[in-house]
Amino acid sequence: MEAIVKEVLEKGSISIKSDINMHDYVLRVLDISDLSSVMKLQGRLIDIMEQKELYVPITQEEMVQLFEGAGEALGLYIDNNLYAACSLLSEVPYENNMARELNFSQEELFRVAQLELSLVDPDLRGHKLQYRMAGILANRLQKRTASRYLFTTVSPYNYPSIETVTSMGLYIAKLTKMYFGWDRFVVYRDFVNPVRLDTANTVIVSNTSFEEQQELLKNDYRGYSQFKDHDGIKIMYARML
Ligand SMILES: CC(C)(COP(=O)(O)OP(=O)(O)OC[C@H]1O[C@@H](n2cnc3c(N)ncnc32)[C@H](O)[C@@H]1OP(=O)(O)O)[C@@H](O)C(=O)NCCC(=O)NCCS
Repeated sequence: MEAIVKEVLEKGSISIKSDINMHDYVLRVLDISDLSSVMKLQGRLIDIMEQKELYVPITQEEMVQLFEGAGEALGLYIDNNLYAACSLLSEVPYENNMARELNFSQEELFRVAQLELSLVDPDLRGHKLQYRMAGILANRLQKRTASRYLFTTVSPYNYPSIETVTSMGLYIAKLTKMYFGWDRFVVYRDFVNPVRLDTANTVIVSNTSFEEQQELLKNDYRGYSQFKDHDGIKIMYARML
């Protein structure tokens, strides 16, 4: 039998919350042999998630399609246990294509890639792993394919994820209901013609002020950053130049 060569991207040591020791980790490209570890990590994290609507589960079939060439996934292992995973779909089926939310043309839909799964074990949170893994996937995508747009959706209540996507240059372009009637920001980045914003004239809005955000978005504003203050999450909007 032919041995599968795993593509290791990074090795190092990392602290975990449940003990004071450092642990050796391997960050590598996942393949079909990691399928059950990914599904188990997802199941375990969904079980302990207080707000289930922050995360849309990936199905086993979707994960298999990704491993068969529709995209790429990365994972971080400690002692043969998967602690974090992130995936990017570069061949997006029409029915799941998030750019349809923005009425992209048929031709443009083919140039869309999407960040899909993003999971970090609570023991390992706080190392910006989602940002690091998604960033590596986005860089590899640009080298590998002719994708022009990188899309994803994020809950207005998922602060670490909003922070991850805006730091990657994906801006909020729509606020709508998706999946099971859940609130979602549709965010994307255009690699070819990046959006430029008039950040000197920023408007700050609470993440729960839906009408105000929708009005701004209708008037060519984009959400590009965020912060937290005494009464919750604030989103920073600026108009496209
Ligand atoms: C979203 C997620 C991947 C982010 O993990 P991460 O990369 O470790 O997050 P970060 O390192 O950017 O975290 C930034 C801060 O938020 C905290 N944080 C991260 N995830 C958190 C969560 N789910 N609940 C509360 N706090 C969280 C971190 O501890 C850190 O705090 P600190 O600055 O005080 O250390 C992780 O929370 C997760 O797996 N959530 C469940 C699945 C999910 O929602 N996926 C994203 C769907 S778009």
